[in-house]
Amino acid sequence: MASHLLDVYPYLPFKPERGEGVCLYGGGRKIIDFYGGHAVAGLGYGHPDIVRTLREQAETLFFQSNAVALDVREDAARRLAGFAPAGLDTVFFGNSGAEANENALRIACRISGRGKVLAIEHGFHGRTAAAAAVTWSAVGKWYGFPRTPFDVGFIPRNDVAAAERLIDDSVAAVILEPVQGQAGAFDLDPAFVRAIAAACRRQGALLISDEIQSGMGRCGKPFAIELAGVTPDLLTIAKAIGAGFPCSALLMTRAIAVQLKHGDLGTTFGGGPLASALMNTVIEVIERDRLIDNVRARSQEILDALPLGPVEAAQGKGFLLGLRCKRPAKEMLQALLDRGILVGTSADANVMRLLPPLTLAREHVDQLLNALADIR
Ligand SMILES: Cc1ncc(COP(=O)(O)O)c(C=O)c1O
Repeated sequence: MASHLLDVYPYLPFKPERGEGVCLYGGGRKIIDFYGGHAVAGLGYGHPDIVRTLREQAETLFFQSNAVALDVREDAARRLAGFAPAGLDTVFFGNSGAEANENALRIACRISGRGKVLAIEHGFHGRTAAAAAVTWSAVGKWYGFPRTPFDVGFIPRNDVAAAERLIDDSVAAVILEPVQGQAGAFDLDPAFVRAIAAACRRQGALLISDEIQSGMGRCGKPFAIELAGVTPDLLTIAKAIGAGFPCSALLMTRAIAVQLKHGDLGTTFGGGPLASALMNTVIEVIERDRLIDNVRARSQEILDALPLGPVEAAQGKGFLLGLRCKRPAKEMLQALLDRGILVGTSADANVMRLLPPLTLAREHVDQLLNALADIR
């Protein structure tokens, strides 16, 4: 039967029918999901606290917009501010990662009055006009708009001298992923991140940490920028924050928040009751079940076993790992799928990506390692 879906996605060679824990089921097969729904399924599938929260909130109040105050929204903001690095205490909720970045960039241009944004080579920030403008190689490939909304420059990865040269007083903001997801879980050198933060401070530019993929505990800290000991001015979150329910958040310092007034930002669905209740529960479960400790321990078990089979080396942090292979990542994906394991690929042809749920157990790591040892 002909599909009515726009054909813009090359599908993975597995069709899931249901999920439970860290596993997907489909076509009579059980697959351990090391791809984690593209870093969204942070608590896996069918998590009882998530299912209960969704049902209870749906029965209580399914939707209200930002025209009214809601306790559940206020609670989610308070909990998120408590989870984030100290100083990032004000939240604006949205619907997607790109929207969070779009608003972060809008705020930076608006309050600085400057018209240039710097990003890092190979970074990915989303597909809307501003977020895509700072996405490496989007303009010229799929950007589509006749011009970007501001001037854009890219800093080579880990090039401190270039960062210090490029960040001048014409720059509104620097946006970076502390661990670049799409690029193959490439973790930026903490010294590079610190140098950017210092240059931003000197020049009056804002630092935006895009933690849409690297955040919510995935990299072994609540947010990956904490690995560099830096507090950004703005921090964007999406994917795992809603455990699969579409939502995002933009965190900012009080110094920025006081410069924004009624009408400056807006959204219909952002911060709705279902999303708010779920964000609240996601953080509660991560903290209650010490899932960040689990991420660190399980990640270390994987790293300790390398090199293994076709895997030569690893990059990334926690559960945002890029495994560099002797064989193309596409072949690795198929070889692992044949052995009951789903992984991701990346923009780097020989790097496969692991972004499993934070709830992954030792037995799943063992199955991954056994599968890798079995591949030539
Ligand atoms: C680092 C990063 N930023 C932004 C985005 C865009 O998020 P969304 O697809 O929710 O708009 C993504 C999505 O993959 C991402 O990985």
